[in-house]
Amino acid sequence: MTKKSKKFEGDPNTTGHVWDGIEEFDNPMPRWWLWCLYLTIIWGIGYTIAYPAWPMINQATTGMLGWSTRANVAAEIAAVEESNAAINAKLASVELTAITSDAELNAYASSAGNAVFMTWCAQCHGSGAAGAKGYPNLLDDSWLWGGDMEAIHTTVTHGIRSDDNDETRYSEMPAFGRDELLEKEEIDQVVNFVMSLSGDPVDASKVADGAVVFEDNCSSCHAEDGTGDRDQGAPNLADALWLYGGDHETLTETVSNARYGVMPAWNTRLTEWQIRAVTAYVHQLGGGE
Ligand code: HEC
Ligand code: HEC
Repeated sequence: MTKKSKKFEGDPNTTGHVWDGIEEFDNPMPRWWLWCLYLTIIWGIGYTIAYPAWPMINQATTGMLGWSTRANVAAEIAAVEESNAAINAKLASVELTAITSDAELNAYASSAGNAVFMTWCAQCHGSGAAGAKGYPNLLDDSWLWGGDMEAIHTTVTHGIRSDDNDETRYSEMPAFGRDELLEKEEIDQVVNFVMSLSGDPVDASKVADGAVVFEDNCSSCHAEDGTGDRDQGAPNLADALWLYGGDHETLTETVSNARYGVMPAWNTRLTEWQIRAVTAYVHQLGGGE
């Protein structure tokens, strides 16, 4: 194969490959090319010493410079926290009502609160805070427990029926059917009465009897006129806004078996400034009082 032949004096050796009489010279690699190759090898070795490179069993070699994407992210987070430390401390310490009256603080709290909400609250209340069955809409001005800064702050801090918090908001509607407090017929009557408060009952002839059942069994929590009681988290039944549903079947289910909506307490998971930020965020969604 590598038969060497020289045609003229001074010509380089040939490789012995010949195509139609054209011979292939056996020239060495150009110098500059070789040097580039050596340089990249040296640079490559240096790089793997300086930076994380070789995969090992648990993690790659860490490199002499100690560079890591995780450390970079941690440093960036620390830098952001550091630059926000002053405003976070202010947020955590001022009067709650002072947050809404201080434009800069309120703007900061609402945007930080949005981030908290998306991380911790959206899975139940929806990313737009419009809620779902059993999870209240936080956009409207219909509140179970209250919609001013203090009330929202208390709700978020201690939760609702949260059994790991002594100061949690608590109340319990009796299960009128399951616990045999009311007859089926009485439940049907009171359900028709409740429907009449905001629209049309299924059977208008039962409304009058239902009003009596309501007066005796429900008004202590939901008020005589059915508008509810925030101290007990008893919903307004007269505003056509429903947490669980306002049709005959759903109301019968609610009155028969009751509901027991649970909202976690957040003071074990979030810092005070985060709780206040999300409070301000919820407050400015539209229903804040
Ligand atoms: C595991 C589901 C869940 C998560 C997560 C959750 N909530 Fe709730 N939240 C509820 C339920 C259920 C209620 C209604 C409880 C009831 O029936 O009284 C509620 C009620 C509320 C209320 C009271 C509304 C009113 O009308 O008075 C506020 C305010 C609230 N949540 C804010 C938040 C915020 C802020 C977060 C995030 C930090 C959050 N919630 C996370 C389930 C949740
Ligand atoms: C001890 C207080 C109490 C009494 C008495 C009571 N409720 Fe309730 N009721 C509540 C509470 C608290 C809730 C909210 C439950 C939850 O979210 O877990 C509620 C929820 C409801 C709901 C759901 C509203 C919605 O928006 O979906 C209906 C309907 C209702 N009650 C009807 C009645 C009727 C009818 C009676 C009487 C037969 C009655 N309640 C008696 C406390 C009470």
